[in-house]
Amino acid sequence: MKIGFLQLRPKFGEVKENVRSALSLLKNVSDATIVLPELFNTGYLFRNLEELKELAEPINRGYTVPALKKVAKQRGLNLAFGMAEVKNRKYYNSSVLITAKGKVYSYQKTHLFDREKLFFQPGTKAYQIYPVDGTKLGMMVCFDWIFPEVTRILALKGAQIILHPANLILPWGQDAMRTRSIENRVFSITANRIGTEKRGNLSLSFSGRSQIVDPKGNILASAGERSESLKIVEIDAREAQDKMVTANNDLFKDRKVSLYKSLVGRNTG
Ligand code: ACM
Repeated sequence: MKIGFLQLRPKFGEVKENVRSALSLLKNVSDATIVLPELFNTGYLFRNLEELKELAEPINRGYTVPALKKVAKQRGLNLAFGMAEVKNRKYYNSSVLITAKGKVYSYQKTHLFDREKLFFQPGTKAYQIYPVDGTKLGMMVCFDWIFPEVTRILALKGAQIILHPANLILPWGQDAMRTRSIENRVFSITANRIGTEKRGNLSLSFSGRSQIVDPKGNILASAGERSESLKIVEIDAREAQDKMVTANNDLFKDRKVSLYKSLVGRNTG
């Protein structure tokens, strides 16, 4: 199957322009699973809740999802991307997966980064697997990378490919995702954004270097730090089913779960 990322430089607040620009960069792509960045349609740096209220959309009834769904169905694309979601007057930093058959799945980011905590609610639903054409996909959003539990749970549930829309700011996200792939023997696709957002006295720069990593940690494709970039590779997702690290080490069976109980409690200090 073909998997890829579209690294973008969204313009804050320009939802229609951002969606059209992404679709134009995808105009020659068909029959592939493509990941776009976190909040790719709105931009990232909300100054206050009012700005978020202006730009957030319900998953199925806004501009973004219907526009992408039409193209996904026409061209056999599975599209994963981040957007600001409003649901029951609450706001979530969500990732959405639209399949080529027009099914829409979503995940509300559970680990909010820095000022995101001022406006967004953290998601509380269990991490899920999305079966698409016989392949099991898992989804997370950006800062979830620093919580290895997320990828581990998705992998234990059978994920073969982790879809990871991102707006990476800290310098370690790409390296950590390579480790997430190695320690779980899964493919990961990190679609990051580039550029600097300056909003009032706030400013943030995003680090690009989107990447596709295979279950042994090989980087199959990567982007630079400065340009928009589309990269697609051909993979066999079944490679992620082989959890044998050596002839005598099965990554999942070798876990010592009876020794890990403190992992699921609160910090004891
Ligand atoms: C992030 O989670 N966007 C850093």
